[in-house]
Order: sequence, then C-alpha cells, then structure tokens
Amino acid sequence: MKLTNIKMGIALLLVMTLLSCSKDDGNGPDPIEVLGIPFASTASNITDTSFQANWVLVAKTDGYLLDVSTNSSFSTFVAEFNALSVTGNTFVITGLSPATSYYYRVRAKRGVEVSNNSNIIAVTTTGIVAEDPTFLKVKANALANPFFVGVAVKSQQLSTGSAYDVVLKNEFSSLTAEYEMKMNPISTGSGSYNWVAADKIVKYGNDNGINVHGHALVWHNAVPNWLTNFSGTNAEFTMEVKKYITDVVTRYAGKVKSWDVVNEAVNDNDGGLRNTIFLQKMGPNYIKDCFQWARDAANAAGDTNLLLFYNDYATSTNINKQNKVYTIVEDLMANNLIDGVGFQMHNTYLSPTKIQMETDINRAVVKGLKIHVSELDIQVNQNNDITYLTEERNLAQKAKYLEIVKIYNALPAANKYALTVWGFKDNESWIPYSTDLNHPGNDWPLLYDKDFKLKSAHTGFLEGLN
Ligand code: XIL
Repeated sequence: MKLTNIKMGIALLLVMTLLSCSKDDGNGPDPIEVLGIPFASTASNITDTSFQANWVLVAKTDGYLLDVSTNSSFSTFVAEFNALSVTGNTFVITGLSPATSYYYRVRAKRGVEVSNNSNIIAVTTTGIVAEDPTFLKVKANALANPFFVGVAVKSQQLSTGSAYDVVLKNEFSSLTAEYEMKMNPISTGSGSYNWVAADKIVKYGNDNGINVHGHALVWHNAVPNWLTNFSGTNAEFTMEVKKYITDVVTRYAGKVKSWDVVNEAVNDNDGGLRNTIFLQKMGPNYIKDCFQWARDAANAAGDTNLLLFYNDYATSTNINKQNKVYTIVEDLMANNLIDGVGFQMHNTYLSPTKIQMETDINRAVVKGLKIHVSELDIQVNQNNDITYLTEERNLAQKAKYLEIVKIYNALPAANKYALTVWGFKDNESWIPYSTDLNHPGNDWPLLYDKDFKLKSAHTGFLEGLN
C-alpha cells in the first residue's frame, strides 16, 4: 500500500510539472482576449439640435461603431449614424431636430472583429417642435370647396403694420368684431350712435378684401344702459329695437356680408326661450320680428344678398337647447328670413365629441342652411388642473382643432360659409377672464401664444384641411 502511494505521488508531480511547462514556455504569443461590449452612459450637453453620446472605454480596442436612431429598435438610422466609426469615449451628434427623441448604442471593434451592441440610451433634444408656417387662408382657398377662415378682432388691433394686422392679412379671409359691433358700444341713446370703432372694423375688412361678418344685432348681454332702464311702453321699446336694427343694417348694407341677428335666445336649462329683456318687452315673436326688420332694411338699402344668421352656443351637447334652436330656425325658414346658423363652439379639448358636433350641424345642413362655426376656441384647463400648457394638453388641443376643421371642411359646398376663431393670442382670449365660464386663471384656447408664435393648434387647423 505504502509503495503504491509513493508511486502515485511521483506520477502526480510529473504531470503538474509538465502542465506548468506547457502554460508558458516564454516563446509563444499571448492568447486572444475576448473583445468587451461597451457600456453606454447617459447623454450630455443636450441642445435643440445636438447632444453628446458617452460610453465607457473597452480595453484593447481600436475604435467604436456608433448608431443613432429615432426609434429604439434601430430599424432606421439618423443619416451618417449607421455604424459610424469613431474613437475615444464621446461623440457629439449634430444636425438634429428640436424636441425629438433619439436613441444611441455603440459596438467596440478591433481589426475586423466587432463586439455586440451596448445598452441603448434614449435622449430628447430640447426646444419646441417647429409648426407648419403655411397661412390658413392660403390652404383654405386652395380647397376644392373653399370657405372663409375668420378671426374675431378689436378695432385697436387694426393699425397698419401691427402684428395683428400682419397676421390678419396673411392668414384670415373673414373677420368678426369681438364686441365693437354689438348694441352696447354702438347705441348711446335713442337714435344716437357711436360708429367710430364699428366703422373702422368694417372699412378695414372692405379695404383689404376681407369678408365682414356682423355680430350681433340683438344680444341680452350687450344691452346699453339707457335701454335696460327704458321707461316707455313695450311698444315704444319695440320701436327702439326696430330703429336700432334698421339703422345699423342700413349703414353697413353692401359692406357687411352677414349678420348674427339674434344671439343666444335659448336658455340652458329646459330649452325654453331665455328670459331676456327682449322676450319680456316684445313677446315671443321678437326673434322673427328682428329678422324681418334686418331683411327689410337690407332690401330697402339695395342689398338683397345679406345673409342672416341665428347664433348660439352649447347646442351640440345640450339637446333641449339644440331642439329649441331648430324650432326657431324652422319658424324663421317658414318665413323665408334665415340664411344660416352660427355655432359658437366655445369648446374644450374633451367636448363636444365629433359625433355630437356632426349631428348638431347636420340638422342645419339638411335644411340647406349656411353653417358658420362662429366663435371657435378650445379650452385646455376647464378644470383648473394645470398651470402651464403641458405637451399632453397641447397635443390634445391640436387634435381637437384638427377634428372640427375636418368636420367643417367635409360639409357640402353649398353649406359652407366661414369658420371663425375667437381671437388671436391666448393671453388676450376672453376665456380665462370670463366669470360665466367659472374657471378664472390660466387657459390657452387659441392658435397663437402670447408672443404670436404659432401653436400646435394652428398646425392642427391646417391638418384638418388635408
Ligand atoms: C365676448 C367677447 O369675447 C368679450 O371680449 C366681451 O367682453 C364679451 O363678449 N358669446 C358671444 C360673444 O356671442 O359675443 C362673446 O364675446 C362670447 C360668448
């Protein structure tokens, strides 16, 4: 037994000696090391159009292959960045688009050998997406069945060379006075008028080949104090309203293409007539009377083409109200007094739905009436849950603008008239300041920001015309 153990020990020693001799004989080359896979680290120096890609160096390489893509599966590559050969452990990628997501990865190389891909790093460039600068009316006028693209204006905006003036002439083919052609500012007493602002607005439109829509002859929220406090009989009150309508329509005959004759005559609750001073003093036929006086005045002044509109809000979501509006419209049609319906469309990014708007508008379409989307704006903060225009709301608003423009553009040619946006810049919109809307504070409902920069909403409008 003892002898056998000694023999085995000697044999083991021999094998170990042989093995140690073969491991390094001092003459052969080093064994080939496996090429390491690089580890990509986060991007740095991110700008609107560039960023620096970074990674950890791998030992014994002679360079790296860099891929940059706009998708994480690298199915396409940013030009030049498809296995671009680089050295070092950083590389600045330039010529990119603002506010865009990119992905990068690297491989190590040594001679013809290439490692597997590193991990993938996502990076988004700073800045804002450039909006399509095409002018709204240019695109609308090129349609098979064009229509007016309108905007609500204030007379003080209309001085030549102002930003409003430039945008208006470039982008819009129609205008509506935001308040200066209502009864309150024009009518200063029985038979006395202040025409200064209204004249300026109408002349601006006429001089510049921009359609002028008149808004509004009779509206309960724009009754001048002297008429609110009128102490005469109901018949005398009625004569005052008739005289006002006649004088205004006569003055602008041939200069104003269309008028909202009566605005918001239906209440929000049960779909009855709104309990206004006009209803109280003139009785339930007052709407028809006002249309008749407007028509008579236009005809007497030689304008037989004046378009008369009934204008109201929230009819797409409030079905009682919608039904009542169409009862009024049918009554006016039976007397040959109405040409079109104005849908204000002070909407939100959630409401009304596409189908609600289409259903509502279609009731006027089948009657052969002109359609005016008359006061479009789209709130994004109706619940006061954001403090700045977030990207998510911005895009939701864009989609909602696109939707309504598409609905409008799909109307038959004979029903098209105008689609009017209620103001220029977000910060001057009536929306954030309206106590009626009950969401005082921030909102961004229009097509331009406070610096007159195009918003995504504007691009949405354009895309609605595709
Ligand atoms: C608003 C204007 O935007 C405000 O500037 C003005 O002070 C009040 O009226 N429905 C209408 C519009 O028909 O005339 C209203 O315009 C908005 C609601």
